[in-house]
Amino acid sequence: MEVIKVRDYNEMSKKAAEYITSKVKSSTCINLGLATGGTPLGLYKNMVLDFQKNKTDYQHVTSFNLDEYVGLSEDHPNSYHYYMKENLFNYINILKSNVHLPNGKGVSLKKECDHYDKLIKGCGGIDVQVLGIGQNGHIGFNEPGTSFGTKTHVVKLTESTRQANKHFFNDMDEVPTHAITMGIQSIMNSREILLLASGAEKGVAINKLLQGDLNEQFPASILQLHPNVTVIADEQSLTSHISIQDITT
Ligand code: PGA
Repeated sequence: MEVIKVRDYNEMSKKAAEYITSKVKSSTCINLGLATGGTPLGLYKNMVLDFQKNKTDYQHVTSFNLDEYVGLSEDHPNSYHYYMKENLFNYINILKSNVHLPNGKGVSLKKECDHYDKLIKGCGGIDVQVLGIGQNGHIGFNEPGTSFGTKTHVVKLTESTRQANKHFFNDMDEVPTHAITMGIQSIMNSREILLLASGAEKGVAINKLLQGDLNEQFPASILQLHPNVTVIADEQSLTSHISIQDITT
């Protein structure tokens, strides 16, 4: 695992955007795995700025997002479809037909999950997967206790996750109870992983990721077995780990 230590959130976002755009520019066909949440917002902002300035071409790019809520339509402002359009897809020239997220409105969710894994495989697999990390080590919606062998699947959201999301909705009844997430195995199948972390609240998680044991109670620990992981983490998330040998700056 290579760790790139950066000063702060802005530097993390710029470095991550340089990383992704250089891959996009140097390939004739590339499959990106994308994430939502607060962490990658700065990455997407910098990708949009780069597109405006340097006209980086995305027509040969296919994207697969990690997860989506069950029951929200694509144009619901809290859906991840909407998030991706609002923060990235509407502002770069990626083809709409090349953009994929799990379908949380499908009649058979099981079929949607199987279809998503097949779609990724059929496109040749994910070249670079962008990940955030939860304070409890979750990746995607794979919470502690999820088997390392999972493929794309439906998860029941914990009450604390639903409570945390409540303020985005009119009332608690509207907060989704389930989501579809790429599984841990689906994530591990990516050829390369770029994990981003910023802020002191991610410190414990980053410590466990880099130095903890392999444990299904800490899903991100599986990344220790992946041959090609780059972590871009800011000083606050790395403060207790400055002795790590393989930090590059
Ligand atoms: P965050 O979430 O980016 O909103 O901190 C990270 C994650 O849950 O993967």
